[in-house]
Amino acid sequence: MATERTFSIIKPDATRRNLTGRINAKFEEAGLRIVAQRRAHLTQAQAEAFYGVHRERPFFGGLVTFMTSGPVVLQVLEGEDAVAANRRIMGATNPANAEPGTIRKEFAEDIEANSVHGSDSAENAATEIAFFFKPEDIVG
Ligand code: CMP
Repeated sequence: MATERTFSIIKPDATRRNLTGRINAKFEEAGLRIVAQRRAHLTQAQAEAFYGVHRERPFFGGLVTFMTSGPVVLQVLEGEDAVAANRRIMGATNPANAEPGTIRKEFAEDIEANSVHGSDSAENAATEIAFFFKPEDIVG
């Protein structure tokens, strides 16, 4: 296993309920380091571009509305096997299917308001990190 980086978003349902610290504790307790972090309110254009791969899906419009409904926290997480590790820490996309102890099992409201986003591959992680962060803003 190698040290790698993944991209994470703490979503508006979680910032609204003031859960940033409890979610970050899950990452850190599992051995991931938060090597970049910025709070932002996404524009419609940013949300549409970021989720462009889902443009044809029936949930796309609702997803963009939700992701622009309040502040998010944009993050780069670093650690051993970080992409897969973060996916384990988050749990299944639908909280109804998430394992006990995962972020989505504990905090998510439903499949859309599911508290966190995490990259699904190392390749997508690199693209998603570059979408929001300059290299000098990531301090490992
Ligand atoms: P995320 O990991 O951010 O990637 C796409 C998002 O679309 C997903 O998490 C969910 O928040 C959202 N979404 C809403 N409805 C669905 C659905 N039916 N299937 C998958 N993702 C959905």
